[in-house]
Amino acid sequence: MVLLHSLEELHAWQRDNAWASRQTGFVPTMGALHEGHASLIRLAAERCELVVVSVLVNPTQFNEQDDFESYPRTLDRDAAFASNAGAHAVFAPSAEELYGGVPSAPCVDWGPLTHAYEGAHRPGHFDGVVAVVDLLFDAVRPSLSVFGEKDLQQVAVVKRLARERHPNLEVVVGALVRDDHGLALSSRNTRLDQEGLVTARRLSRTLHEMQEVCAKGGDVAEALIAGREALDTTPGITLEYLDVVDTQSFEPSRGAQDQGAHVVVAAHVQGVRLIDNAPLRT
Ligand code: PAF
Repeated sequence: MVLLHSLEELHAWQRDNAWASRQTGFVPTMGALHEGHASLIRLAAERCELVVVSVLVNPTQFNEQDDFESYPRTLDRDAAFASNAGAHAVFAPSAEELYGGVPSAPCVDWGPLTHAYEGAHRPGHFDGVVAVVDLLFDAVRPSLSVFGEKDLQQVAVVKRLARERHPNLEVVVGALVRDDHGLALSSRNTRLDQEGLVTARRLSRTLHEMQEVCAKGGDVAEALIAGREALDTTPGITLEYLDVVDTQSFEPSRGAQDQGAHVVVAAHVQGVRLIDNAPLRT
């Protein structure tokens, strides 16, 4: 496994390994790797001869400076972790080199897909995601790229980006990974203490309860009211949104049997922003 710090090092390594003529996989990350990332890297390694993992805390997708600054940065540990999971190279460029100057991201307006839910609560977030993923795809030029289902709206945004700008690239979605208590794995979980972790479990429990109600034919709108009530009345949770959406358009969906209907949630626990989602039809 090699650690590559610049575009020049990446392209030299790719030339040495006949990258262009092989089945190649790419897993973009912001580091602080955990089992969720490992499952994405393993998925890429099963499908590809060579796998690159990128590690870059992308400044343009943060709408709060504090969040950007306090994001965990653990490159040496991440490189060892990625190697154990099956990566052949870790690409960790500086933001300035990748962006070719001061990082900035033009506005992307794909309707609710970029402006509802995550887009509404984190203005400019998807501008930054689209900008960095587009640059990374151009730099790495993989056959396929793997994204985690936990960031469900990001998956839909990246699929649209790939359709429009990288038509030969396959976007593969890796299943959401949970801990033994159902909490969706996230780099941000490391900022929760034991009490915060216990409180955060209420999110996935609520999604599960809604799944059960809807699987028995219960009304989606009523399940949503009960879910919001459960989260609003849990001490320590500040709910941003809980809704049922169509996973391609990210417009609200009220039919439990609708193809692709998912319940999505975002909430703060101990000042940490957490997201989760689950399909309504399991
Ligand atoms: O999901 C993430 O970690 C980031 O949004 C991504 C895709 C690596 C872009 O910075």
